[in-house]
Amino acid sequence: MSGFKPIKIGLVGIGRAGYGMHLSEVGKTEGRFEFVALCDPETSRCEEFNKRYKRSCRIYSDYEELLNDAEVELISLALRSPEHADYAIRGLEAGKYVFVEKPIAVSYEQALAMKAASEKYPGKLFLRHNRRFEPCYNHIREIMASGILGNVYQIRLRRHNYQRRDDWQTLIECGGGMSNNWGPHIIDHSLRLLESPVKKVWSRLRKVAAVGDAEDHLTVIFEGENGRMIDMEISGGAALGEPVYRIYGDRGALVSQDESELQLRYINPEQKLMDIKAKKESPPITASFGNPEKLEWIEKTIPVAPSCGCEAWHIWNHLYDAIRNGVPFPITIDEGVEVVKYTAMIKQGTEFENR
Ligand SMILES: NC(=O)c1ccc[n+]([C@@H]2O[C@H](COP(=O)([O-])OP(=O)(O)OC[C@H]3O[C@@H](n4cnc5c(N)ncnc54)[C@H](O)[C@@H]3O)[C@@H](O)[C@H]2O)c1
Repeated sequence: MSGFKPIKIGLVGIGRAGYGMHLSEVGKTEGRFEFVALCDPETSRCEEFNKRYKRSCRIYSDYEELLNDAEVELISLALRSPEHADYAIRGLEAGKYVFVEKPIAVSYEQALAMKAASEKYPGKLFLRHNRRFEPCYNHIREIMASGILGNVYQIRLRRHNYQRRDDWQTLIECGGGMSNNWGPHIIDHSLRLLESPVKKVWSRLRKVAAVGDAEDHLTVIFEGENGRMIDMEISGGAALGEPVYRIYGDRGALVSQDESELQLRYINPEQKLMDIKAKKESPPITASFGNPEKLEWIEKTIPVAPSCGCEAWHIWNHLYDAIRNGVPFPITIDEGVEVVKYTAMIKQGTEFENR
């Protein structure tokens, strides 16, 4: 016996996310959840799911049937992006808890409609920004908070690869494009790492290697009211990648090439910097360029290991704690709506002063 009272899930969309991620992640939650019903117009996918799950979840080809299944407490939405908002609202109206995949909505209007529904049915809607619990992201936040890098003024985030991708995620009419695909994760990271309201956002979109009509290369610059800049780029058209994270502070920097290690170079926090002034006159003819004082650099490379011990799939444990124990879910509806708001701006490939 696990000691948990399993939350009974109706899973909608048995594809790469539903079958490939939700099924295996729930398997790690030590009995906090149990699938009882599946919904996909291609019911053979549900049968495949049952085989792997080694149980007989009820199978529906129509969402309305799943909504009428009284045993389903939580609807997990893992179907294509354009349906998320409407399906989430219908789930709430049917009295269910709803866990919705990213992008939570494909337009700001849809996101606002979801927010209105969540206000009508409070505590029932949960957003799957699972990368909020990634180890590297969390370790970096801990290091930033420790102050060893000083004032962080610029952050570069990259997700680069090269793929001649040909699925619906490359088609505009299906809600595809990098801004809806990887965008919600890295826009969410950007907004959190900014640690301040957005002052300006600038973006450019391009199609490079994917074969649909949606963008597969996205560059965005956020400027915070605190002066910090986040420069993020997601690309399916970059044959050579850049480090996933580069964090620059006024006392040091951090680089993570592939999220397995963190390379750090920072001035010893014990070292008090001299109070020196710039001089107008020419330096002595034999003077060198650079530092008048010796900087005590600390240089090290450490494995990614945040003190929270968190991993992306832990979002399910937070979901359980929210539903069963009333613990606030770490991702708020307003944060999710804000991600969609900036995604909509970014898609226009232009520059905005925030208002
Ligand atoms: N959080 C993450 O890390 C993550 C990762 C991958 C995908 N996703 C998101 O998950 C969603 C699904 O992506 P995917 O790659 O699994 O797509 P997919 O095409 O592999 O799977 C979608 C499934 O939904 C089914 N479907 C279509 N219409 C349906 C309907 N009306 N009712 C029920 N099922 C329906 C399809 O038959 C298919 O089985 C996307 O919105 C994507 O952005 C999130």
